[in-house]
Amino acid sequence: MLTRRSLIKFAAAAPFATAAFAAAPSPGLAAHARAKNLVYGCATSTYQLKDPLFVAALKREAAMLVPEYEMKRDKIEAARGQYDFSATDALAGFARDNEMGLRGHTLVWHAANPPWLEQAVTATRNERLFTDYVTAVMTHYRGRLSSIDVVNEALLAASPRQDGLRESFWLKAFGPGYIDTAFHAAHQAEPSCLLVYNDWGCEAGAPKNDRMRAITLDFLSKALARKVPIGAYGMQGHLGAFDPPIDQKKLRQFLDDIRALGLRVIVTEHDVHDDGGSSDNAVRDRAVADASARFLDVVLGSNAVDAVLTWGLSDKYLDAPGWSERLAGYEPRFLPLDRTLQRKPLWQAMANAFDRA
Ligand code: G3I
Repeated sequence: MLTRRSLIKFAAAAPFATAAFAAAPSPGLAAHARAKNLVYGCATSTYQLKDPLFVAALKREAAMLVPEYEMKRDKIEAARGQYDFSATDALAGFARDNEMGLRGHTLVWHAANPPWLEQAVTATRNERLFTDYVTAVMTHYRGRLSSIDVVNEALLAASPRQDGLRESFWLKAFGPGYIDTAFHAAHQAEPSCLLVYNDWGCEAGAPKNDRMRAITLDFLSKALARKVPIGAYGMQGHLGAFDPPIDQKKLRQFLDDIRALGLRVIVTEHDVHDDGGSSDNAVRDRAVADASARFLDVVLGSNAVDAVLTWGLSDKYLDAPGWSERLAGYEPRFLPLDRTLQRKPLWQAMANAFDRA
């Protein structure tokens, strides 16, 4: 299983330092992170790689990529038994050619599945409907992924179940054991990849977040006691600029508790939604930056976190089809670069957070 040091190795190599200083007015976020033995990266998609100005910014800023949607089952196995890895292969090739790391997202999720899957799972309850898929993807990307979200969002604070498991078609068909089975299949296919349980809802300080932290710790500690090969907790890191502020004491305790389980933490999908507040861009940008700073100061001070990825790099692509958080009336400003690829207060807040780590 990968260690923190090998995760860093998967990220950018030395050329980054020269490229950053040669090609841009100042080092990118990856250089700020790398200076503290951390990794910064972002989600991206092949259609974005057709934009040369965006590609230049991506090379400057990121040392790791994660497919935003092209490595999900609705894109890889749209037709049963017919795998199409072409899009994720293109992202993997871009990462390799630019000496960036690559993390995988995601193998078993209640969403982004091809239409035929849920019906087949419900009708047959055949575990091979996911173990074969997990094995196929892990085998195809053997040696190329620094980590992968094996199971995504299996817990839910609002779940009526005492264990907090989300009542997905996976749970209904196989019971709680589907999670263990998925991780064991992934480990058997690719023992060197850091296997991640990825979820959201543990970041903020409301009562629903308290429950999410409690069910998450309970779930992870019991899974590890059963020898389920989970190596890291993926904290998605979706924040709200105009939501109640992060409770730093609760978040710090949670990260300490995760570390006490022997798990690493990756911030997998950080962004700061800016709906629900001012329509003044400067006010929103400041609120977004401040929310991220409150979060990252705790996260990066915890010694549990090896990498921070944002769920995209530029606001330019936030209004692509499928972005369910499309905001009526104005353009979203969740990410470090604005729509013209200029650095925003969020970029500076993240650079400062890495520098303080
Ligand atoms: O398929 C089209 C493609 O043909 C087209 O070229 C492209 C650009 O226009 O759009 C593609 O459409 C959609 C894509 O979003 C565009 O971003 C996909 O069909 C649609 O499924 C996809 O939705 C993604 C969603 O997960 C479901 O996979 C979002 O991008 C992605 O941001 C969102 O990400 C989730 C994480 O996986 C889990 N955590 C929450 C996060 C946000 O919802």
